[in-house]
Amino acid sequence: TYEKLWLAGSFVLIVGFIVTITYGSVGLGITMIDDEADGVSPDEIPSDERFSDPRVEQVGEDEYEVYVVAMTFIFQPDPIEVPANSEVTFYVTSRDVIHGFEVAGTNINSMAIPGQVAELTVEFDEPGTYGIVCNEYCGPQHHTMEGSLVVT
Ligand code: CUA
Repeated sequence: TYEKLWLAGSFVLIVGFIVTITYGSVGLGITMIDDEADGVSPDEIPSDERFSDPRVEQVGEDEYEVYVVAMTFIFQPDPIEVPANSEVTFYVTSRDVIHGFEVAGTNINSMAIPGQVAELTVEFDEPGTYGIVCNEYCGPQHHTMEGSLVVT
């Protein structure tokens, strides 16, 4: 009779696991749909018109400004191209949810927050190519969110 109890107990546990797994994936599915529905809302971008056209802008002989917009799951502009021996100021915002803006191999690392603008100034002395990654979890395709920075 103890064996029967154990069997019954295991059965209950297994059914419990299956219910949990099913419930889990249903929950995840709903979350993902929500993400996409709420995801891109241009209204949340800072009203600053500079961000309506994400770009690199030359503002001095060796000075550049870059207006970066992060959104699920890309960065604009991509690639970012600036010349070597220049001072570059990044203005970074997000169009939807919180993202990260990290230029691998440099000390450029910021959050990209809807409605806010992060400002980072860096000097690039040498030509090179850097990967840009999002380091804040932002949704199911977070791990694919990357761009590049090319110093020419
Ligand atoms: Cu964008 Cu993670």
